Amino acid sequence: MTTITKLESKVKELSKLLEALKELNAAIDLQDIFQGILNQMVMIAEAKEATLWVLEKEKNRIVAKASCGVSAESLPLPTLTVGEGIIGNVINTGKTDVVENAEQGMGEYKAMLTVPLKAKGQTLGAIQLVNKKDRSAFDDRDVKLAVTLAEQSGLALHNSQMYDELYKMFLSMIRMLAEALDARDPLTKGHSERVARYAWLIGKRMKLDPQVCFELYQAAILHDIGKIGIEDRILRKTTGLTDSEYELMKKHTEIGARILSAIKPNRFFQKSIDTALLHHERMDGSGYPNKLKGEEIPLFARIVGVADAFDAMTTVRTYSEGMSVQEAAAELIRCKGSLFDSEIVDTFIEILDDCSYDLQAFPTEDAV
Ligand SMILES: [Fe+2]
Repeated sequence: MTTITKLESKVKELSKLLEALKELNAAIDLQDIFQGILNQMVMIAEAKEATLWVLEKEKNRIVAKASCGVSAESLPLPTLTVGEGIIGNVINTGKTDVVENAEQGMGEYKAMLTVPLKAKGQTLGAIQLVNKKDRSAFDDRDVKLAVTLAEQSGLALHNSQMYDELYKMFLSMIRMLAEALDARDPLTKGHSERVARYAWLIGKRMKLDPQVCFELYQAAILHDIGKIGIEDRILRKTTGLTDSEYELMKKHTEIGARILSAIKPNRFFQKSIDTALLHHERMDGSGYPNKLKGEEIPLFARIVGVADAFDAMTTVRTYSEGMSVQEAAAELIRCKGSLFDSEIVDTFIEILDDCSYDLQAFPTEDAV
């Protein structure tokens, strides 16, 4: 190879690498990132297939998260136990493994290049390339490229795992807060969680973006958080509220909005703030606190309004026996358009139809 061709090939490699990195930065979703990494790697190393493996320590397994080439057709992607095979070994040792191009008989060749995905001194996974298109072995150039790209990928994986952990922690804190609130009154136990689940199911059925559904879940679980500021003598009263007590109870909407406004940065909570404030607004303007009408009420507040009313009707409270699911559904339908958003009620009724009005059979998949 002349110096110029070497140089040309180097420039080509680098520009491909740059492209791969750009793709890394552009992709937000981790699955897209993985797929982008593999696509670029297969292209650069001219491999036939590649698989990206992620170590899931707490589950004691290594899971294939993305694949490219032949194995991409053999879905679902496989799972290994920790330490199993070449992948397990590369993850354990943190060292690259190259298997020469060995003839497997019947003219079949198998060459493998396995590089660890590392970040902050820990191995988080591995990328394995299998077979070069020209049937040659993986050479030093391939190893160098794979290692460079794996370094960047390891960092992206690390960041996303950190983000995931933070998000889970954040969500469990929100849940804890809602549970603490519900625990103050034994009769409302689980109310926030159920309302959040109903709201989330409605959002999903309305085909809202998954990210928007998470925000909706978050807003719904916090909708009554302002009740923290309502005195026990009102919150836990077993008989009906007097007019002045009811006025005080209504304040939970404003208190909730105020509490959530204190969380920074604000923009992550704007919809939760609006939902806490406006989930008792009604389509005909008869709600509170701002007497908003129709679409003046934000979508999340309209959805939570339906979910909240349904849960209140179907659970036993001190002042009511609790309706059957069918009775509550009939009540939602009766108040369609006047109190509740028609489209949202219709969507919720569809969900109830799907589980044959059996709340136990309600889809239990987790929102997050
Ligand atoms: Fe409320």
